[in-house]
Amino acid sequence: MEPVKIGLLGLGTVGGGTVTVLTRNAAEIARRAGRAIQIAHAAARAYDPARISGLGDIGRISDDAAAVVADPEIDIVIELIGGYSPALELVLAAIDNGKHVVTANKALIATHGNEIFAAARRRGVMVAFEAAVAGGVPIIKALREGLAANHIEWIAGIINGTGNFILTEMRDKGRDFGEVLAEAQARGYAEADPTFDVEGIDAAHKLTILGSLAFGIPLQFEKTFTEGISRIQAQDVAWAGELGYRIKHLGITRRTPAGIEMRVHPTLIPHRRLIANVDGVMNAVLVKGDAVGPTLYYGAGAGALPTASAVVADVVDVVRALTTDPTNRVPHLAFQPDELSDTPVLPMEAVETAYYLRITALDRPGVMARIAGILGEQGISIEAINQKEPAAGDTHVPLIMLTHRVREANMNEALDRIQALEAVAGEIVRIRMEGLDG
Ligand code: HSE
Repeated sequence: MEPVKIGLLGLGTVGGGTVTVLTRNAAEIARRAGRAIQIAHAAARAYDPARISGLGDIGRISDDAAAVVADPEIDIVIELIGGYSPALELVLAAIDNGKHVVTANKALIATHGNEIFAAARRRGVMVAFEAAVAGGVPIIKALREGLAANHIEWIAGIINGTGNFILTEMRDKGRDFGEVLAEAQARGYAEADPTFDVEGIDAAHKLTILGSLAFGIPLQFEKTFTEGISRIQAQDVAWAGELGYRIKHLGITRRTPAGIEMRVHPTLIPHRRLIANVDGVMNAVLVKGDAVGPTLYYGAGAGALPTASAVVADVVDVVRALTTDPTNRVPHLAFQPDELSDTPVLPMEAVETAYYLRITALDRPGVMARIAGILGEQGISIEAINQKEPAAGDTHVPLIMLTHRVREANMNEALDRIQALEAVAGEIVRIRMEGLDG
C-alpha cells in the first residue's frame, strides 16, 4: 500500500522532534498504523539542520506553507507553527482542502477550536490535538476514551512545565526566577512569549481544553480564571512547607451544582499527595471520575521528543481511521457535537476554596482579634494561625492563616476590609488551597 503522505508546517523544537521520531521509529510506527508514513513536504521559515535528524527523508522542504496545505498529494497536515496567525488560516485551508489535521497548538484549539471542529465536521475530516495538553502525556486519549464510562467530577493538573520547573528550582535551590526562566527557554520548554508560561495563559489554554473534554461543554478560554506565579515569594514557599504544603501552579476544573469551575492559579496542596511531588518540567494531571475514583497521569509536558511522541500518536490514530465513516469517529470534544451542554462556567467570585493568607500587621493587643472578627463576619472559619517573628527592628509581624473553604466573593470582601486596617502594612498575600482528596 502507498505510504500516507504528510505535510509538516514548522521545523522548530516540536517539528524537529516529530521528524526525528517519524524517521527513527518508522518501521515500528508502520507496524502499528498499517501503512508507512512519509513526510512529503515540510515548510518552515527557518530551521537548524544540525538539530534535526531525518531531514534527508523528507520529500521536499520549502518556506511555502500555503503550498503544503494545497498539495493534492498530502493526506494529513501537521501544524507545528504555534500561535494564532497564520496557523488558523492554514488549518482552515487544510480542512477546506479535505486534509486531516494534527496540531500541538493549544492556543489555537482553546480559542478557535469550536470553529475549527465545526469546519472539520462539515468536511468530514479529523483534527487531532493530543500534544496540545501536557506534551507527551496521553491525557486527551485518557479523557476521551479511557474514562468514557465516568461522570468526571474534577481535574487538577500541573500543565505548564516551565512554571513547574521554575517553582521547583526556586524551592530546592533558591535560584533566581529570571535565571531559571532563561534556562527553560534555552531547553525549548518555554513558549515563544514566556509570559504565557509564568502568567498562566498557557496553562489556561490547556485547562480550557481539559474542561471541555471532561464536561462536554464548548471551549470557553475567555471564562477561565488565570493567575500566574510571578508574585510567589520565597517566604510563602517556606511557610507553606512548614505547614505541610507545597505550592504548585494548578489548573483546576470541577463540576458543581451551580456550574463548572475553570481556574488556573498557584495552589497550596498537602505535600503527601503524589501530585505535590511532581517536580521540574514534568506535568501531571489528576482526574477524579465517579466510577474509577482518582487517576493520575504523569510525564514530560514539554520538549522536542516527548511532544513529538503525542504528535506522532495522533498521526497513527488518524491513519487507522482514514477509511472510517466520519460519524463513527471519536468526537473532537469527547461528547457528540449535538450533545454539548450549556452548563455555565462559574465566575471566580462564586468559586469555593480554602486559603493561605499572609498578613503583615502591627504586633499589638487587639489586632489579631480585629482580623479574626472581620473573617468571622464574612463566614470565614480559621483552621490555623501562626505568628512569625518580626524582622530585626520591625514592629510588624507576619501572620500566617489557613482558612476553611469559603466563597471567593466573601474572601474578597474580608480582605478589602482587613487591608484597610491602619494596623496592616503591605499587601496581603492570598494563595488558594486545595486538599485534592476526592
Ligand atoms: N511552554 C509549555 C510548558 C510547553 O512549559 O509546558 C508545552 O506546552
